[in-house]
Amino acid sequence: MKHPIATFCVLAAIFAACTLSPVAAQAGDLLVKPRNPKTIYRAQDGVYEPRKLKYRVSTTAGKRTWVLRSRKTMFTGTPPSGKARKRAKRVVVTPNDARIGALAPGIYDLRLVWRAKGRGNKRVKRNVSLVVEGDAAAGLSYFTNSCSGCHDIGVNKNGPRLGGVYGRKAGTVPGFSYSDALVAYGEVWEERTLNAWLKNPQKLVPGANMYVLVTDPVDRMNLIAYLKSVSP
Ligand code: HEC
Repeated sequence: MKHPIATFCVLAAIFAACTLSPVAAQAGDLLVKPRNPKTIYRAQDGVYEPRKLKYRVSTTAGKRTWVLRSRKTMFTGTPPSGKARKRAKRVVVTPNDARIGALAPGIYDLRLVWRAKGRGNKRVKRNVSLVVEGDAAAGLSYFTNSCSGCHDIGVNKNGPRLGGVYGRKAGTVPGFSYSDALVAYGEVWEERTLNAWLKNPQKLVPGANMYVLVTDPVDRMNLIAYLKSVSP
């Protein structure tokens, strides 16, 4: 057995005690909690939701200097550097307004990377989705031109009514006869799912009954902002 950890796991498994998570911490690792990916929204008026991301950073051994690096510097960590010890330290990550404000509406998947200086240069990554919301008024005019032939906010037409669609499970408007494919899809409509649906409904849900493609990402984000504005 070449790897000491693997040897340990094999031995421990014999005693049914190898309950370590797949990425078991090693001495000196930098730990960042929570693990779950987060989403931060930026509305047209520059308001962020949530305004800040909070993480807890710690090292399993000793005193280490950690540094937050984030791709394209969309976020800054406060403080930008400091000592993380055994006891977890709270890190607040703040959006960089100038950089994010210059982005076109869209969904951006970013990575926050922490680096512990010193032996081994350990890195820890956390995924953050940045949703730069579109303009609901522009979305309404796109809707009127391209969607209202089949969709209404209040009533079912050729397509299901779209009032309240944001946050609703796909294929669940009473009295509308959906394709089996869309009912089986069963996801909740939010930024990511609506964006994929509007980009290409057939690709997201093969066999669905809608064939309209909204090719421009900004148009899609505007439409999503509009649909969100007519949803509770
Ligand atoms: C030619 C008619 C037609 C047009 C135009 C059309 N749709 Fe649809 N849409 C449908 C049909 C039909 C369905 C139901 C699909 C199914 O059952 O597979 C649907 C479903 C949807 C759904 C899912 C609703 C739910 O309750 O799960 C959304 C969201 C949606 N359309 C948005 C739009 C938007 C936004 C536009 C304009 C860019 C648009 N549609 C244009 C016919 C249309």
